[in-house]
Amino acid sequence: MAPLRDALIDCMLLDEERFRRRLPDIVETHNLQSVDLELADESPTDILQDLDGFEPSSVTASERERIARMVRLGTVPLGLTLTGPAYQDNPVRYATQTFQEMTGYSLAALRGENLRLLQGPATDADAIATLQEGIDIWEQRTVELWNYRADGKRFRNRVTIVPLTGPDGSITNWLGVQKAIDTPDT
Ligand SMILES: Cc1cc2nc3c(=O)[nH]c(=O)nc-3n(C[C@H](O)[C@H](O)[C@H](O)COP(=O)(O)O)c2cc1C
Repeated sequence: MAPLRDALIDCMLLDEERFRRRLPDIVETHNLQSVDLELADESPTDILQDLDGFEPSSVTASERERIARMVRLGTVPLGLTLTGPAYQDNPVRYATQTFQEMTGYSLAALRGENLRLLQGPATDADAIATLQEGIDIWEQRTVELWNYRADGKRFRNRVTIVPLTGPDGSITNWLGVQKAIDTPDT
């Protein structure tokens, strides 16, 4: 069985129709009972209409589909984040419920920020350099590094970043997949 992290990355890269067909398999294989498959059947537009504080005009069409997809996957036990555009220092466009709970930051607090806001004195410089290099050459990277919650408590975060191409093949957004793997301060 592919790890959940890989399964989530794969399904975020599919087109909308294949995503809908794949999702029930992932839910079953990984026992993701919190995922609402009825919501998964709704159109991206309907899903986003119900999202608090969401302004459709502030995001592109492909971001809209990706955000709706993250809403459907919002309770899976890994955080998902969407950032972009890369040339504007990758501000957060969307972060799932799990990511907000993991970091203690609300979506409103995260939106527009670069996720280096989670870093602090103990954050590993090598891991930051690895992420920076991946972003520079548009390649997927996975690192483990110390991050800090909104309340100042640190946690070990396993982060994968994945470049996402737009309709014309250029990189428009980045996907982040995050998991807290240790919480020694709690
Ligand atoms: C989609 C995405 C998700 C990211 N998630 C995190 C994260 O959870 N924690 C973190 O410390 N850095 C994260 N980063 C990395 C920082 O945003 C930044 O790219 C990194 O610190 C290297 O750039 P810098 O040297 O300019 O800070 C993420 C980056 C991207 C593109």
